[in-house]
Amino acid sequence: MQLIEIARSEDVKEDKALAVKAGNTPLLLTRVGGKACAVSSKCPHLGLPLGKGKIANGTITCPFHGSSFDMCTGDNKDWCNAVVGMPIPGWTSRLLSMGKKPQSLPTYETTEENGKVFVRVPG
Ligand code: FES
Repeated sequence: MQLIEIARSEDVKEDKALAVKAGNTPLLLTRVGGKACAVSSKCPHLGLPLGKGKIANGTITCPFHGSSFDMCTGDNKDWCNAVVGMPIPGWTSRLLSMGKKPQSLPTYETTEENGKVFVRVPG
Protein backbone atom coordinates (compact mmCIF):
# COMPACT_ATOMS: atom_id res chain seq x y z
CA MET A 1 0.00 0.00 0.00
CA GLN A 2 1.16 3.50 -0.82
CA LEU A 3 0.37 6.67 1.14
CA ILE A 4 -0.19 9.51 -1.34
CA GLU A 5 -0.83 13.20 -0.65
CA ILE A 6 -3.99 14.16 -2.50
CA ALA A 7 -5.27 17.52 -1.20
CA ARG A 8 -4.89 20.38 1.23
CA SER A 9 -7.15 19.91 4.26
CA GLU A 10 -8.74 23.33 3.74
CA ASP A 11 -9.94 22.29 0.26
CA VAL A 12 -11.97 19.34 1.59
CA LYS A 13 -15.40 20.62 2.62
CA GLU A 14 -18.47 19.08 4.24
CA ASP A 15 -20.94 17.74 1.63
CA LYS A 16 -18.84 18.95 -1.35
CA ALA A 17 -17.13 16.56 -3.77
CA LEU A 18 -13.51 17.30 -4.58
CA ALA A 19 -12.17 15.32 -7.55
CA VAL A 20 -8.56 14.22 -7.06
CA LYS A 21 -6.18 11.58 -8.37
CA ALA A 22 -4.06 9.23 -6.31
CA GLY A 23 -1.55 8.16 -8.93
CA ASN A 24 -3.78 6.90 -11.74
CA THR A 25 -6.78 6.33 -9.47
CA PRO A 26 -9.52 8.98 -9.73
CA LEU A 27 -11.19 9.64 -6.37
CA LEU A 28 -13.76 11.90 -4.78
CA LEU A 29 -13.01 13.48 -1.44
CA THR A 30 -15.44 15.04 1.00
CA ARG A 31 -15.66 15.74 4.69
CA VAL A 32 -18.27 14.07 6.90
CA GLY A 33 -18.54 15.17 10.52
CA GLY A 34 -15.04 16.64 10.24
CA LYS A 35 -13.44 13.48 8.83
CA ALA A 36 -11.99 13.40 5.30
CA CYS A 37 -13.46 10.49 3.33
CA ALA A 38 -12.33 9.18 -0.08
CA VAL A 39 -14.26 6.98 -2.50
CA SER A 40 -13.93 5.83 -6.09
CA SER A 41 -15.17 8.46 -8.53
CA LYS A 42 -16.83 5.77 -10.69
CA CYS A 43 -20.33 4.57 -9.92
CA PRO A 44 -20.38 0.77 -9.43
CA HIS A 45 -23.56 0.53 -11.54
CA LEU A 46 -22.14 1.36 -14.99
CA GLY A 47 -18.81 2.97 -14.14
CA LEU A 48 -20.04 6.48 -14.97
CA PRO A 49 -18.50 9.47 -13.16
CA LEU A 50 -19.99 10.41 -9.77
CA GLY A 51 -18.26 13.80 -9.65
CA LYS A 52 -21.41 15.79 -10.47
CA GLY A 53 -23.47 13.87 -7.91
CA LYS A 54 -25.03 15.75 -5.03
CA ILE A 55 -23.83 15.04 -1.50
CA ALA A 56 -26.18 15.48 1.44
CA ASN A 57 -25.53 14.28 4.99
CA GLY A 58 -22.51 12.28 3.84
CA THR A 59 -24.38 10.44 1.06
CA ILE A 60 -23.65 10.94 -2.64
CA THR A 61 -26.33 10.35 -5.28
CA CYS A 62 -25.26 9.32 -8.77
CA PRO A 63 -26.45 11.93 -11.29
CA PHE A 64 -27.30 9.27 -13.90
CA HIS A 65 -29.62 6.69 -12.28
CA GLY A 66 -30.00 7.79 -8.67
CA SER A 67 -27.98 5.14 -6.84
CA SER A 68 -26.67 6.53 -3.57
CA PHE A 69 -23.71 5.68 -1.39
CA ASP A 70 -22.29 6.58 2.02
CA MET A 71 -19.15 8.64 1.34
CA CYS A 72 -17.25 7.15 4.30
CA THR A 73 -18.28 3.48 4.30
CA GLY A 74 -19.24 3.14 0.62
CA ASP A 75 -22.46 1.38 1.66
CA ASN A 76 -25.14 1.36 -1.03
CA LYS A 77 -28.28 3.14 0.22
CA ASP A 78 -30.42 3.14 -2.92
CA TRP A 79 -30.01 1.51 -6.35
CA CYS A 80 -31.17 2.75 -9.76
CA ASN A 81 -34.26 4.72 -8.82
CA ALA A 82 -34.07 7.66 -11.26
CA VAL A 83 -33.01 8.74 -14.74
CA VAL A 84 -30.99 11.96 -14.80
CA GLY A 85 -32.65 13.15 -11.59
CA MET A 86 -36.22 12.11 -12.53
CA PRO A 87 -37.64 9.44 -10.17
CA ILE A 88 -38.93 6.26 -11.82
CA PRO A 89 -41.52 3.70 -10.67
CA GLY A 90 -40.13 0.83 -8.60
CA TRP A 91 -40.88 -1.84 -11.24
CA THR A 92 -38.66 -0.07 -13.79
CA SER A 93 -35.72 -0.02 -11.41
CA ARG A 94 -34.94 -3.66 -12.25
CA LEU A 95 -34.82 -2.82 -15.98
CA LEU A 96 -32.64 0.21 -15.37
CA SER A 97 -30.18 -1.76 -13.26
CA MET A 98 -29.54 -4.00 -16.34
CA GLY A 99 -29.12 -7.07 -14.20
CA LYS A 100 -26.49 -5.53 -11.93
CA LYS A 101 -27.11 -6.14 -8.25
CA PRO A 102 -26.60 -3.33 -5.72
CA GLN A 103 -22.93 -2.84 -4.89
CA SER A 104 -20.94 -0.71 -2.48
CA LEU A 105 -18.67 2.08 -3.62
CA PRO A 106 -14.96 1.34 -3.07
CA THR A 107 -13.49 3.46 -0.25
CA TYR A 108 -9.92 4.50 0.54
CA GLU A 109 -8.38 5.06 3.96
CA THR A 110 -7.43 8.68 4.60
CA THR A 111 -5.25 10.45 7.14
CA GLU A 112 -4.57 14.14 7.72
CA GLU A 113 -1.34 15.67 8.88
CA ASN A 114 0.07 19.21 8.79
CA GLY A 115 -2.87 20.53 6.76
CA LYS A 116 -2.63 17.82 4.10
CA VAL A 117 -4.84 14.85 3.25
CA PHE A 118 -3.25 11.52 2.38
CA VAL A 119 -4.87 8.38 1.02
CA ARG A 120 -3.75 4.74 1.01
CA VAL A 121 -3.95 3.04 -2.36
CA PRO A 122 -2.75 -0.35 -3.52
CA GLY A 123 0.64 -0.37 -5.17
S1 FES B 1 -24.25 4.92 -13.43
FE1 FES B 1 -24.65 5.49 -11.38
S2 FES B 1 -26.59 4.64 -10.96
FE2 FES B 1 -26.21 4.12 -13.04
